[in-house]
Amino acid sequence: MQSLSLREDVLAKAETLKVLPTLNTVIDEVLRVLADENSSFNRLFSVVRYDQAISSKVISIANSAYFGRGSQITNLERAMVAIGFDEIRRIVMCLVFLKEMLHQWNLSQGDLALLWTHTLSVACAAKILAGKTMSEDREKVFTVSILHDIGKVPLFMQGDSYKKLIEEAARTGVDICALESGAFGIDHQEVGQFMAVKWRFPQEFSAVIQKHHGRSETGETLVDLVAKADRFIENPAADLGAEGIILRGEAALIKAETTKITELMGVA
Ligand SMILES: [Fe+2]
Ligand SMILES: [Fe+2]
Repeated sequence: MQSLSLREDVLAKAETLKVLPTLNTVIDEVLRVLADENSSFNRLFSVVRYDQAISSKVISIANSAYFGRGSQITNLERAMVAIGFDEIRRIVMCLVFLKEMLHQWNLSQGDLALLWTHTLSVACAAKILAGKTMSEDREKVFTVSILHDIGKVPLFMQGDSYKKLIEEAARTGVDICALESGAFGIDHQEVGQFMAVKWRFPQEFSAVIQKHHGRSETGETLVDLVAKADRFIENPAADLGAEGIILRGEAALIKAETTKITELMGVA
């Protein structure tokens, strides 16, 4: 019964989130770009694309009834063009405001840095894998990978009890979703799916968020690609078939790309 009420509590937190919190260094970098009259759209794109908080809001707004043109926008650059600089500025201002609420929400810069680095590593791995297998649009793969674990944010808001689960998963190798379900009556895939629907993410994105921990292949290329990149980042020695061989061969490049971006954004 306890996990039933915890489940409701997690979903209630997911319901109230209008925008995800992010790292101060990322906010500072985006504000710097927005304040510089000479900075280009490309410069802004090259900062926004690495961050789940801003990317998720941009995709959500671009696919809302107001901007929606019938077809779903999965390309972040196109989504940014659709909503414009002013809207992006508003999103970043919301993030500045949220900064003050991190403590109250049991979230720390350390939690966010952990999640930020993980999603970036998965995005770099998935993008390289998509390029090698020529199976999916690499930019779409990158964006959806940045967003794949959004469901973890309301769970991080549960405080130390969630951090203990993460440590347990790392120590024992047990899948984090099983531990989350046991403790909270819900896992981050279901929380993420709830948020993806609420925020009107494209259907393909919701599918990745909902199913990326499946042990068997879903037959949906995008889901399977992100799932393999995610497992590779968690355990580079995991048996992932042909994709595992590709990813292990590109491990140095994935690491170099991730390090370059974390340093660039001041996260490292
Ligand atoms: Fe996940
Ligand atoms: Fe993940």
